[in-house]
Amino acid sequence: YTKVAAIYADSEALSGKEVQVGGWVRTIRDMKTFGFIELNDGSCFRNLQVVFADGEVANYKEIAGQNVGAALVVTGTVVLTPEAKQPLELRASSVRVEGTSSPEYPLQKKRHSVEYLRTIQHLRPRTNLFSAVFRVRSAAAYAIHEFFQERGFVYIHTPIITASDCEGAGEMFRVTTLDLENLPRTGDGAVDYGEDFFGKSANLTVSGQLNAENFAMAFGDVYTFGPTFRAENSNTQRHAAEFWMIEPEMAFTDLKGDMDVAEAMIKHIIRRVMERCPDDMNFFNSFVDKGLIERLSHVASSDFARVSYTEAVDLLKQHNDKFDYKVEWGCDLQTEHERYLTEQIYKKPVFVTDYPKEIKAFYMRLNEDGKTVAASDCLVPGIGEIIGGSQREERLDVLERRIRELGMKPEDYWWYLDLRRYGSCTHAGFGLGFERMVMYLTGVSNIRDVLPHPRTVGNAEF
Ligand code: 4AD
Ligand code: MG
Repeated sequence: YTKVAAIYADSEALSGKEVQVGGWVRTIRDMKTFGFIELNDGSCFRNLQVVFADGEVANYKEIAGQNVGAALVVTGTVVLTPEAKQPLELRASSVRVEGTSSPEYPLQKKRHSVEYLRTIQHLRPRTNLFSAVFRVRSAAAYAIHEFFQERGFVYIHTPIITASDCEGAGEMFRVTTLDLENLPRTGDGAVDYGEDFFGKSANLTVSGQLNAENFAMAFGDVYTFGPTFRAENSNTQRHAAEFWMIEPEMAFTDLKGDMDVAEAMIKHIIRRVMERCPDDMNFFNSFVDKGLIERLSHVASSDFARVSYTEAVDLLKQHNDKFDYKVEWGCDLQTEHERYLTEQIYKKPVFVTDYPKEIKAFYMRLNEDGKTVAASDCLVPGIGEIIGGSQREERLDVLERRIRELGMKPEDYWWYLDLRRYGSCTHAGFGLGFERMVMYLTGVSNIRDVLPHPRTVGNAEF
């Protein structure tokens, strides 16, 4: 079958030609001797107008009796209609009804709230909003692979099941075959994972970083792009229990190089998505977030701000009267602070660097001051943190000391420490939250609406 996107893209060449299209009815109008169908096949934002006339199709009555949502295969001639609202239409010679739909079909032509649409996750990809979101999500994923592949990065598939906690935040989902009602116990009453599948406690990965580091020490530049899981009990618009992360890891690269790659990557994604999904982006610009395209175009062509945590705290402290949670040196920046910094102070994306070591993960490189680490978070307007990254601690003795300080066991990280024993080098990487990037691209404000099947606290139905 010919895709509707291809008909619009190639309309001059297809004018007067016969094509066959499979799609679903968005609207249908019966004018007694002829009728109109807006057919959507998901290949692009636009519908295809199908004209069917009694006498030209054999089953006029059957077609005219179809409901919104029915699946049709239409054969017909492409006719350019420069005077009409839509640039072309399909004059049907035959219409085959593959699947009827009932008048109770929930997606009748009217506006539905996103809250309602979340309750019908299996049908919502058929709406304008969600079809645009998921086409942009796909185009963004492609642009990300393109960005790294063009630069010679090797794509590494890091494991979903791991035994380590990369972020040390204890927000892991356990993977076990043990019977939770009758857990085997050791002499001192602890759960005996020796009897479990892996012979030890295992969990769903919170980040592929540590595995990516293993490969960066062999390939130089690598990236991983896959699902990650966090049992964060926070019911917010930007946290999901299952989300996708892009994590490059680069040997012989410091924090500045890390930020340069992150900034170039975000700009590349924006440019490619705007080029490849113009109709979807125009829809977001008109109905979701006015001014989106102009703002993104500006971001893609100007420098991001870069500021140290210490400087950021000094700036934010002057506005403490506006915050629920007051800022002081040493505190973790909350979403309200991140957004104030990027929306009110800089009015563009900002990298905040060199955070206090107490609020960051064990693997980040300790700075000369002994108090801060070479971390860098990228904050964007409307969302806050979109990227978390750092230069990694490459010094064996310093890393071992950090692991002990945090109450972790160096023996659990023997393989990670080996990287510092055999050819250790300056290296850095970051993690881009893919859903937050899609929110940024579309203006959609809730992470539940950029995930095909969101998993959040209390929600894993489909
Ligand atoms: O800042 P985070 O925790 O960093 C890491 O996991 C590092 N290991 C990455 C690295 O250096 N390779 O997470 C990175 C990003 C965040 O900035 C955010 O965009 C996203 O992942 N993220 C979430 N997105 C949705 N739901 C959640 N619960 C998220 N937690 C983090
Ligand atoms: Mg972070």
